[in-house]
Amino acid sequence: LSEQLAISGGTPVLPEMPPAFEPMSADEVAAAAATLRDVPLTTLFGGHEIERFENEYAEFCGARFGVAVNSGTSALNAALLAAGVGPGDEVITTPLSFVASASTIVQAGARPVFADVEPDTYCLDPAAAAELVTPATKAILPVHINGYPADVPALNELAARHGLAVVEDAAQAHGARVGGRHVGTLGDYGCFSFNIGKILRTGEGGMVLTDDPAAADRLRAIRVNGMAPGPAGSVVVALGANYTMPQAMASIGRRQLARHPEALVERAHNAKLLLDAVDQVDGLTPLPDTAGRERVAYFPQLVLSDELAPLRDRLVAALRAENVPAAICRPPLYHVPYLREICPDAWCPVAERQTARTLSVDVMPCYTPAQMDGIAAGLRKVFANVSRLAD
Ligand SMILES: Cc1ncc(COP(=O)(O)O)c(C=O)c1O
Repeated sequence: LSEQLAISGGTPVLPEMPPAFEPMSADEVAAAAATLRDVPLTTLFGGHEIERFENEYAEFCGARFGVAVNSGTSALNAALLAAGVGPGDEVITTPLSFVASASTIVQAGARPVFADVEPDTYCLDPAAAAELVTPATKAILPVHINGYPADVPALNELAARHGLAVVEDAAQAHGARVGGRHVGTLGDYGCFSFNIGKILRTGEGGMVLTDDPAAADRLRAIRVNGMAPGPAGSVVVALGANYTMPQAMASIGRRQLARHPEALVERAHNAKLLLDAVDQVDGLTPLPDTAGRERVAYFPQLVLSDELAPLRDRLVAALRAENVPAAICRPPLYHVPYLREICPDAWCPVAERQTARTLSVDVMPCYTPAQMDGIAAGLRKVFANVSRLAD
């Protein structure tokens, strides 16, 4: 394979980039339209489609309660508030996540404390977290990143020793499990995002799962500016915000949930095709499996050899020029300028080393066999011509 790379003017392996988002299905459009016609656009205290979606999603995951909100960020905001996190508190979290995992801690008035990650999962390392517990620590916020479950049982033990809350960010791992239990049901609060790029999507949307009825009541109030229904109308019982999910989004979510198990199988199938192709190229390795932790396929992370690591950005650019949906692994969050100001000393060597040598390739369930073939061919082509990227 010594064809000219697309990045150098050759013909791309795929004629166009596969879609970044799953299109709406006909039954999702019909369900949303029926709701827009029959139900109020939004409701203060849930009900209707919101309540059905909450019950169905909580039951699917194995939680007692689900509280739907309008984004994953809102889910984290609400959970941190419900957990009592506030000014003066510290929350131990991972540097490898989307910025909302840390920004919501700052919005709660608390300080994120970044602990290093496990090299095989890129999730918060319980041993590193244990070293950072102080009298100010109020909660631990692990993230199930890239579909890979964090070791919440070990973090729960740490939390129990110090009286901390565990808020799981499961925005990237719907359907993943630890010891057979769904992520988002292992800690005190499980936060999901249903934004357009997520494994289960409503466009915008989110949910908090909990088994604690009092916490569920707090979350429901926080979602509507701290209001609760009273005999003479609603009354403000707590500090809250407006995190209400529109009813039609819940209808889309219910249709997505009905298809969720099948979509996970399709993702796993496409991930297998990707990993078979990765097997055939030198210098690129997927993250290994970890016993007891069942991951789902969401941007599988691929790690470059020492030799190829310095070429990571050029490799990703070359793959993208072939219309392979590759992306770099984002650097640790404490490099974000405002987080750097809050956490000037944060430094996580494993996260630093691994992010710099890692890339991902998307495996959406809607990718066709021809698109998956093209992704495999694009990987082989770019890695066969890697010497041309070196100079
Ligand atoms: C790990 C993680 N946490 C939180 C969020 C925030 O979710 P949302 O975009 O729905 O606010 C996202 C997604 O964007 C995410 O990937």
